[in-house]
Amino acid sequence: MRKKLTIGLFGFGCVGSGLYEILNRSGLFNASIKTIVVKNKDKKRPIPQEHFHFDKEVILNDPEINLVVELIDDADAAYEIVTRAIRSGKHVVSANKKMIAHHLTELIDLKNQYKVSFLYEASVCGSIPVIRNLEEYYNNDTLSSVQGICNGTTNYILTIGQRRKSFDEILTDAQRLGFAETDPTLDIDGFDAKFKLQILIAHAFGVITLPEDILNIGIRNIKIQDIQYAREKGLKLKLIASSEKIGDKVIGYVAPEFVKENSFAYDVNYEFNAVTIEAAFSDRQVFKGKGAGSFPTASAVLSDISALQYDYGYEYRKKETTQLKYQKEFYSRIFISSTNPDKLNLIDFEQVEETFSSKDYAYKIGTVDFSKLSHQLYRDHPELFIAFFPEGEHLFRLAEKRDGEKCNKKNLHSR
Ligand SMILES: NC(=O)c1ccc[n+]([C@@H]2O[C@H](COP(=O)([O-])OP(=O)(O)OC[C@H]3O[C@@H](n4cnc5c(N)ncnc54)[C@H](OP(=O)(O)O)[C@@H]3O)[C@@H](O)[C@H]2O)c1
Repeated sequence: MRKKLTIGLFGFGCVGSGLYEILNRSGLFNASIKTIVVKNKDKKRPIPQEHFHFDKEVILNDPEINLVVELIDDADAAYEIVTRAIRSGKHVVSANKKMIAHHLTELIDLKNQYKVSFLYEASVCGSIPVIRNLEEYYNNDTLSSVQGICNGTTNYILTIGQRRKSFDEILTDAQRLGFAETDPTLDIDGFDAKFKLQILIAHAFGVITLPEDILNIGIRNIKIQDIQYAREKGLKLKLIASSEKIGDKVIGYVAPEFVKENSFAYDVNYEFNAVTIEAAFSDRQVFKGKGAGSFPTASAVLSDISALQYDYGYEYRKKETTQLKYQKEFYSRIFISSTNPDKLNLIDFEQVEETFSSKDYAYKIGTVDFSKLSHQLYRDHPELFIAFFPEGEHLFRLAEKRDGEKCNKKNLHSR
């Protein structure tokens, strides 16, 4: 029997208005929007003004509303709405990856305490059904990696970048076409993909990290020569969010990678997203779809609403049982390039495999201690481009401190 859901909707922008339309069109029984709360009183709306309220209390204090759907673009306000809704005994559906990534442990504890469901399928890769799959289908013991192209804006920029336009030119085009925000920092510096990766790691491995634990290096510093380099080698550059289990540790990062033709990522172009899940017996599986946009994202919200009608909730069983720990220190094979050859010395290599230097472009490929890379290093040196090289041939070796030294060659791992 489907439970009756009376919905209080926060936000009527891209996703909220999409949800309003597809909920009406879907014929989902026993679920209807009672109240909509937005922010701006003067904004023109696609439906009559009398549908809108501007005070969050109208939803939060309404005992008839048993589901709050939070689709606003302000993570701090969303945190207040979501926590208050849960404390009022209401189920919550949200798409706000930034808010979820920053408060996941607290939100899980809270929804357990108040015995409600808190679902957020739309927060990771829009229409791709990945969270519920990880939660229900994949057993922690057999799962070995989850990787994805989780940000459509950067994927769009990198796809167009293959046509040898400069980064700034492409970004301006992407903003004009609505694929990039006016302030594109969260997307192009890899924060958005990192929030999603953090949520993926929680559901894949049961390990809850904080955003600051996951390194994010974006695509802001990419140069035409880097794209040229990729083309000459038959590779493409993609911003990859990656998590992998090595022994009893989990590692994760967001960074550009050179990918080969046989990679899941090679033909994921423009604003599309994809996630690949590798497990011991099922091998690699790839989900590809629209990671953003009004209807695709709203379709994931609708799926959560539908699941709630059958009392579905994430159980976080892997979190309760996992022995895995998140590890920030490991070695990997990277590519760095710069228009100023001296800048390559900013990163200490354990081992150098290849170098190239000309008057206005230089690069180095080799193994580095991952903990020596930082988001700040990449932001402070706009001429320094950092990428993993190449996909499918990473050399991950966990770094462990023993007597002050980093070693542990036994954990050599390649894929
Ligand atoms: N857009 C996508 O493709 C996409 C994909 C995946 C996830 N998401 C996530 O979905 C959420 C919504 O994104 P969006 O693209 O729909 O945003 P949006 O188009 O910018 O719309 C945001 C909505 O939130 C309302 N709002 C902002 N602050 C509010 C507050 N304090 N109280 C009530 N309403 C408030 C705005 O009100 P006004 O209308 O009055 O301005 C607007 O209706 C975000 O968390 C985003 O990260 C979006």
